[in-house]
Amino acid sequence: MSERTLCMIKPDGVERNLIGNVLTRIETAGLRIVALRKLRLTTAQAEGFYTVHKERPFFQSLVSYMTSGPIVAAVLEGDNAIARWRELMGATNPANAAEGTIRRDLALDVERNTVHGSDAPETAGQEIPYFFNTMEQQG
Ligand code: RTP
Ligand code: MG
Repeated sequence: MSERTLCMIKPDGVERNLIGNVLTRIETAGLRIVALRKLRLTTAQAEGFYTVHKERPFFQSLVSYMTSGPIVAAVLEGDNAIARWRELMGATNPANAAEGTIRRDLALDVERNTVHGSDAPETAGQEIPYFFNTMEQQG
């Protein structure tokens, strides 16, 4: 079943000129990029995006990192897109990520792990409109 997911290239990826590398992996895997933009999150926007983690010990550090520079947000579409994008990303901690995944190949550490992906249909449904309005999702 075709579905959509939210992808982010986090500040460490943009900073190291890895936008093209990541987008190439997405397209090579057969996922379609239906919306794309570069922006810098404010503190309030990063806190809102990661509100599910607000009680976690790494929350303040995560918000500070996610606002440290621009990110790229994208909507990806394809059969089983949520799981396929998570598979391309690899495990949260690059030390545990499988060979050939983005995080294994490119991430710096468990926080600066280069990419984000929605983890379920409900979160994708919340995260996509966080970045893209209805018209912007028509691609
Ligand atoms: P994401 O939401 O960014 O796609 O990553 P994820 O599902 O693989 O990981 P999640 O548990 O949702 O954590 C969100 C982000 O918080 C940072 N983090 N730091 N210092 C730490 O132990 C730690 N744990 C997580 C990472 O940037 C992680 O992707
Ligand atoms: Mg997550």
